[in-house]
Amino acid sequence: MRMRKKPWARSELECCDFFVINPKEYKGKWKEFFGNDKPIYLELGCGKGTFMAVHGSENPDINYIAIDIKDEVLGLAKRNIEKAYEEKNRKVDNVRLMAQEIGLISEILSKEDVISRIYINFCNPWPKEKHKKRRLTHTRQLEQYKTFLKSDGEIYFKTDDDELFEESLEYFNEAGFRIKYITYDLHNSDFEGNVQTEHERMFSEQGIKIKFLIAVKS
Ligand SMILES: C[S@@+](CC[C@H](N)C(=O)[O-])C[C@H]1O[C@@H](n2cnc3c(N)ncnc32)[C@H](O)[C@@H]1O
Repeated sequence: MRMRKKPWARSELECCDFFVINPKEYKGKWKEFFGNDKPIYLELGCGKGTFMAVHGSENPDINYIAIDIKDEVLGLAKRNIEKAYEEKNRKVDNVRLMAQEIGLISEILSKEDVISRIYINFCNPWPKEKHKKRRLTHTRQLEQYKTFLKSDGEIYFKTDDDELFEESLEYFNEAGFRIKYITYDLHNSDFEGNVQTEHERMFSEQGIKIKFLIAVKS
């Protein structure tokens, strides 16, 4: 979906305490940057940040890194996160938001960063054969994530797209992950504690079932 330019976004992000202007500086040092020993969860392609706003504000004992590539959505994510924390009378102290190409995520995260969980919500399905390597769940990407995901660390993956889901199962298998939980209809499953994203709401309203899995690094 194409989004209108938001000329305010970059300047607003640069003045924001929890937006990281140069994330490469913190490679291997995210724990020190957060200043505590709490587990770190990572959201890839956070979009307008509604998922992060709920998770971050409701889980003060977790630190979160939220990544997207577009200033337009990151500007909205910043506002949505601030709003959720304001409503809970909290300072945004456990979320770091940043612009980063996920294909180059090794520029900002290393094995010293020990990520406990990764969320991939409604990533682009890249249906054409020649583009499949760009999928955020492609084996090539999973191999990168394995370098900073702790052993027994989990990837939570949700999508509306049947083909992407089926082929991702193969990617997880190829990369040596174990599937701990799987459902082809998340909203009618026994999974508790789901937080809906913008795209999840949109697809559910169209009657599309949400596919979801939890993969564990063995
Ligand atoms: C379809 S949207 C999903 C947004 C949100 N996760 C949701 O579920 O509503 C995908 C998001 O991932 C971001 N994205 C896609 N490819 C990316 C990449 N290679 N690096 C960083 N962000 C990316 C896009 O900018 C977009 O905001």
